[in-house]
Amino acid sequence: MQRHRVVVTDFTEPGHDIESDVFASSGLAIDLVTVKEAGRSALLAATAGAHALMVQFARIDRVLIGTLTSCRVIARYGVGVDMIDIDAATDMGIAVANVPHYCVDEVSLQTIGFLLDLNRRTLPLAAHVRAGRWGTAPPVTPPSRLRGQLLGVVGFGAIGSEVARKARALGLEVIAYDPFAVADQHPGISFVPLTRLLAESDYVTLHCPLTEATRGLIGAAELAQMKPSAYLLNLSRGPVVDQAALTKALRAGVIRGAALDVLGTEPPDPADALLRLDNVIVTPHVASWSIEAGAELRRGVAQSVVDALLGREPASVVNRDQLLARARR
Ligand SMILES: NC(=O)c1ccc[n+]([C@@H]2O[C@H](COP(=O)([O-])OP(=O)(O)OC[C@H]3O[C@@H](n4cnc5c(N)ncnc54)[C@H](O)[C@@H]3O)[C@@H](O)[C@H]2O)c1
Repeated sequence: MQRHRVVVTDFTEPGHDIESDVFASSGLAIDLVTVKEAGRSALLAATAGAHALMVQFARIDRVLIGTLTSCRVIARYGVGVDMIDIDAATDMGIAVANVPHYCVDEVSLQTIGFLLDLNRRTLPLAAHVRAGRWGTAPPVTPPSRLRGQLLGVVGFGAIGSEVARKARALGLEVIAYDPFAVADQHPGISFVPLTRLLAESDYVTLHCPLTEATRGLIGAAELAQMKPSAYLLNLSRGPVVDQAALTKALRAGVIRGAALDVLGTEPPDPADALLRLDNVIVTPHVASWSIEAGAELRRGVAQSVVDALLGREPASVVNRDQLLARARR
């Protein structure tokens, strides 16, 4: 029986018991190789000749992909595939698979959690009490009632639309910007140009993928279009926001505050001034985090590998159309 070499380049959680169970029940002979904290040359050495890769944050670029002469699939632990050179994978005939939907509940809930924390001033008030104070004169502006405020959702896919559903249940009104959304499929949501969304929203939340079109989508000019009382939430990818411009805007009061689960550089430089601003909440890229989401993610990645090795199409292949076009050439 042919043995298949499957390489895990990186994954934040330890252990691969769920993946191993999926492999065991597939009937395939799979050798699972994990690359721990590898530098670039060790990564290249480990992945060369692999039959499948399972990847999380490691940069899978054209040089690395060029060595994958036997690889059927690069399966991403996650939704976003911005760390993988999709064109290079297509050129090599390799499918790039992701696991959509595994953390829609978690990311949408963390977005709402951020929104509530910002509105209810939870962090400054908790700091106020922790500093031994009490009373009705904490050093923060009083919130406006959340019901009736306007949430602008940028990127109205699985997560953005679930954020909208939850937000409307709290009495918020929702508008959205998404150049690819079909408005008829989302009754009750007004799709508007980005400039209008920025100018009108009390909260702007980003849920688009990181692509060449969305890199730096929110910079100094866009922040200046927002209301001084507005908040920016980013749970998509750090580089969608110009972080230097955001830091400046938060300092200067161009907008009132921000909540970020993702940053331009992860992990950030501990000296980064953004991390110490009073009007920003930062969490360490954990919005997808739950026991259930983690298990679904592992099963999804392992199943994509099994499907590809068995010659079946994995459930979610992001370069499916490009591979079909390549096959027709
Ligand atoms: N913080 C986390 O832990 C975490 C977890 C999961 C996903 N994410 C990020 O969230 C993103 C969205 O996830 P999803 O499951 O909703 O994906 P999705 O593909 O279902 O939705 C993305 C939406 O963005 C839209 N979009 C594409 N280009 C756009 C543009 N230029 N401007 C505005 N909208 C645009 C698409 O049309 C789509 O509707 C992922 O790509 C990933 O980067 C982050």
